[in-house]
Amino acid sequence: MVKFRFLGIMILLLALPAIAVAYGGHDGLNCTGCHGIHNAKGDIIFAVEPNKKAINPVTRQPFTGTTALCLGCHETVEKGGLGIMAVSAVHSHPYGVTPSAKVATVPAVFLREGKLECVGCHDPHPSNPFYKYLRVDTAKGAKMQDFCALCHASKSSPKAVAEMKVFDSMDERKFTAPSAPAAPAAPKAAPAAPTKK
Ligand code: HEC
Ligand code: HEC
Ligand code: HEC
Ligand code: HEC
Repeated sequence: MVKFRFLGIMILLLALPAIAVAYGGHDGLNCTGCHGIHNAKGDIIFAVEPNKKAINPVTRQPFTGTTALCLGCHETVEKGGLGIMAVSAVHSHPYGVTPSAKVATVPAVFLREGKLECVGCHDPHPSNPFYKYLRVDTAKGAKMQDFCALCHASKSSPKAVAEMKVFDSMDERKFTAPSAPAAPAAPKAAPAAPTKK
């Protein structure tokens, strides 16, 4: 059983060259590392099994939604992940939680079904140019407190929040990534028929 699991991981590693060859970040996952086009394992055609082993310390149940998908890779192998930059669910900022208004004021764009998931703080798409795929530009972490202020404004400078521009890849209609190439221009009118000279 253990051996079989290991084999499964090895196959996945081979299928995800990004992990073997260090392209870094999610670039090398090349979409299909996360979205299994015709052989998906669950919601949003995800390519990786949702993690059912790691337990949410708040609910004492396995994680759900997209958080379970992130933890399919970003948790230790013992806790059902692939050991890629494992985030500890015990000593970690809470995720998979319904925010208590006393602790955090979370803008709706960061919530999924009322809960703060990994994607509340990170937008994992390769189009996100920011440090650690965070939703805002923290100047490589130097302005981290501005980021925290998005949801914990009473703990940080209120001026910071107004200046933050949130990156959101989830609406193709308003895609305005700061450093993304300009959207292709609308096709020009068909070239005029050649005129005889
Ligand atoms: C690291 C994993 C990961 C990678 C790599 C990734 N995605 Fe995603 N994708 C997600 C997650 C997680 C969501 C849901 C995000 C959310 O709810 O904010 C998502 C959502 C989407 C959606 C919207 C689905 C819906 O129901 O609205 C599309 C379309 C999509 N991805 C396309 C792509 C494309 C194209 C690429 C490659 C350029 C890509 N993804 C790369 C994890 C990934
Ligand atoms: C298919 C496996 C896989 C899934 C699923 C996945 N990631 Fe990753 N992630 C990676 C790999 C590979 C790296 C790069 C690791 C390295 O550089 O050592 C990475 C790196 C990261 C980094 C660090 C980026 C940096 O610049 O240092 C963040 C943040 C991250 N992932 C967040 C997420 C979030 C949030 C989700 C869920 C929406 C997610 N990942 C889902 C494989 C995955
Ligand atoms: C409250 C916001 C928040 C939530 C929720 C959150 N993260 Fe993060 N994450 C951060 C911040 C901030 C950093 C950068 C920390 C730093 O560089 O000091 C980070 C860093 C990371 C990294 C890079 C770690 C490294 O060693 O460089 C990974 C991977 C990651 N997060 C994955 C996840 C996953 C997976 C989830 C959900 C299970 C998640 N994050 C939930 C804010 C969050
Ligand atoms: C997208 C919103 C969001 C961002 C950004 C955010 N947090 Fe939180 N934070 C929350 C939520 C939601 C909770 C949990 C509230 C609850 O317990 O109901 C929380 C809880 C906390 C707690 C209490 C943890 C505990 O176990 O009691 C601390 C401390 C904290 N956040 C610090 C930070 C720091 C530092 C940053 C910036 C690096 C940050 N947060 C960024 C939403 C956010």
